[in-house]
Formats: sequence, C-alpha cells, structure tokens
Amino acid sequence: MSYKIALNFEDGITRFIDATESESIADAAYRQGINVPLDCTNGVCGTCKAFRQSGAFDAGSYIEDALSDAEAAEGYFLCCQAKAKTDMVIDILACSGACKVKPKETMAEILKVEALSAHRIRLSLKPHPMFLPGQYVNVTAPNGTAKRPYSFTSTPGADVATFLIRNVPGGKMSGYLEAKAKTGDRLVLDGPFGSFYLRALRRPILFLVGGTGVGPILSMLEYLAAWGANDQPVRLVYGVRDDADLVEVDRIEALRTRIPNFTYDTTCSGRGSRHPLTGQVTDHLSASVLNNGNVDVYLCGPPEMVESGRQHVAKFGLLPTNIHFEKFAAASEPFAI
Ligand SMILES: Cc1cc2nc3c(=O)[nH]c(=O)nc-3n(C[C@H](O)[C@H](O)[C@H](O)COP(=O)(O)OP(=O)(O)OC[C@H]3O[C@@H](n4cnc5c(N)ncnc54)[C@H](O)[C@@H]3O)c2cc1C
Ligand code: FES
Repeated sequence: MSYKIALNFEDGITRFIDATESESIADAAYRQGINVPLDCTNGVCGTCKAFRQSGAFDAGSYIEDALSDAEAAEGYFLCCQAKAKTDMVIDILACSGACKVKPKETMAEILKVEALSAHRIRLSLKPHPMFLPGQYVNVTAPNGTAKRPYSFTSTPGADVATFLIRNVPGGKMSGYLEAKAKTGDRLVLDGPFGSFYLRALRRPILFLVGGTGVGPILSMLEYLAAWGANDQPVRLVYGVRDDADLVEVDRIEALRTRIPNFTYDTTCSGRGSRHPLTGQVTDHLSASVLNNGNVDVYLCGPPEMVESGRQHVAKFGLLPTNIHFEKFAAASEPFAI
C-alpha cells in the first residue's frame, strides 16, 4: 500500500512523495530525491523531527532525548522512524533549499478563458498539478511575457485546474488573458506554494474573503464536499465592491447542498449597490460564529481587507495558530518580467 505525503518546507514550498507502509518517511523522501534533515537515522539525535498536520503514522522506536512525550503529544515525530498509515500532510522544519528540493515546473495547456464579468476571468488548464487545497502556483505566460501567482479554485485530483483571476486594467497577465490567450496556449506552472491551505477539521471554520480571494476557498470547499466536513459548522462571508463582480455564487450555492453544515453570505461594498447585504465582510459577523475563539479563520483577498479582518477576529481571543491568511498582493518587480 502506498500513500501520498505532502511535505511543506519552511519557505512555503510543498512537494508530494509516495511512501509505502514498510519504509520510513525519510527513506521515501530520499528515494524521491528530497534530502530531509537526517543524522543518526536511528531515533537517537532528533535531527529529523517534523510536525504532522494531518494523517496517521506508526511512530516507530526512539529515545526520549530525540523526541519527548510532550512533543509527540503535540504532533511531532521522527522522519527516520515514522511510517505512514494514511495520506499525510507534514511540516518539515527546514527550508526546501537545505533539502535539495528542485524547482518543479508543469507545462499546462489552456482549455478555456471565460470573462465572468468586466473584472473577473476564469482560466481552465490541463493537466492539474498536485497541491493542497488553498495553495497557489506561479503562472508564466507564453514567451515569458508575465509571471504571476494565482490560487487554484479546483480541488486536488480534479481533471481540470481552474483559477479565478482579477482583470486588472493595464495589467501584464490580465492583458494577455483578456486579449491574446487562446485554447491550446501553453503556460508554465511552478509550485505549488504557500502555507494557506486547509488544515485538519478540528473546530468550526470561518472563511472571510474579498474579491478573487474567494478562489482558494472554493478549492477548500470542493475538498470538504468531496472528502467530508464531519458536522463542524463551516461559514463563508464573501465580499466584493461592485455587484457585477460577485461571481461563482452558483458554485457556492451548489456546494451548500453538498456540505452538511455550510452557510454563507455575500456582501457588496460599492456605493449604490443593489445587493441585499452591503458593507464589508466584517460587518456581517455574529459573535456566535467566532465560537468564543474556538474557530479556524481563513482570510484571503486584497491586503487591506485581510489585515482589517485579521485585526477584527483577533479581538475575539483566537490563537494566532488558528488564523490563516493569504494577501493577494500585486506582483513585485522581480516578477514583472
Ligand atoms: C500568493 C498570491 C496568490 C494570488 N492569487 C491570486 C488569484 O487567485 N487570483 C487573482 O486574481 N489574483 C491573485 N493574486 C494576485 C495576482 O497575482 C495579481 O493580481 C497579479 O499580480 C496582477 O497581475 P497583472 O499582470 O494582471 O497586473 P500587473 O501588471 O502586475 O499590475 C498592473 C498594475 O495594477 C496594479 N495592481 C495589480 N494587482 C492589483 C490589485 N489586485 N488591485 C489593485 N491594483 C493592482 C499594479 O500595482 C500595477 O500598477 C495572488 C497574489 C499572491 C501574492
Ligand atoms: S535522524 Fe536522528 S533521530 Fe532521526
């Protein structure tokens, strides 16, 4: 039996390996060219300590000096000893460069480019690289004319990779997608990247998103619909400025029928909006949704929206580890090819 293991490195890079039940996670990583930190290989030194985000494993044998009982109870384990018993998501306590992780590029072909509104584009590509729901890839346009990060809206394992992209007036990638992109164009994807991914479902979830920040949340919701959200309440508040940019709501409504305890609201903040709810996403939060701080909050969208949302929810006593966020910042110069 072989399992899929996602290795998340400290610099936000993720790589996927296969591991059998009979090999240690360190052996599986080395077999696939990833040199996770290792020294004694005997459960004695603690060099290979890692953290389990999700999944089950057999911890193997080791001494207390290498891994204390308290660390084991928190979710730490030793890669040289542990064997996977299910698919897993693991934090490796080192940067990818130190583990000789090579850049991973996928050539993908455009299947469709759709204008959902004047400011929103849906891009569909094939094939679909591996990623965790919520992560992004850097997309390079043909001839390297632009390279920009975009988050998947599709779920891992889907046939077609989809993205929801803001059409920025005068933007390099926006200009390509709006005026030139056609079926069959080949784009380079590198990644996946990012620590903004869906964690194991241990408490209620609150998604607070602005604009195209709804994209990675769609991926997370698709994942919850496909793999089960147990009975934890899942709440989404999705805001945009212009009514016309409130896209993908049909998809969210369809997800509502597939996720047992999922509710959502949409709100528009532009002047003269005719939408039933107006204002910012934080205007539509009841204290009960924050569950006395026992909730996982995921914020995504424009940097100012994410920052004000973060400050708002922090007042309700949430631990920083329960607040996950991604700021859709404009590309910095090194990206502006
Ligand atoms: C981790 C990450 C994930 C991202 N995922 C997505 C995603 O899934 N969907 C998505 O739409 N965007 C996403 N973004 C943002 C996206 O990469 C930018 O919108 C993109 O850089 C714009 O590219 P462009 O080439 O069209 O415009 P550029 O050529 O980069 O910009 C043209 C001009 O518009 C300004 N500008 C760029 N973006 C914005 C903006 N959002 N608001 C106001 N002014 C802007 C720039 O400063 C510049 O002056 C993500 C960003 C990050 C960091
Ligand atoms: S390498 Fe020493 S404990 Fe794993």
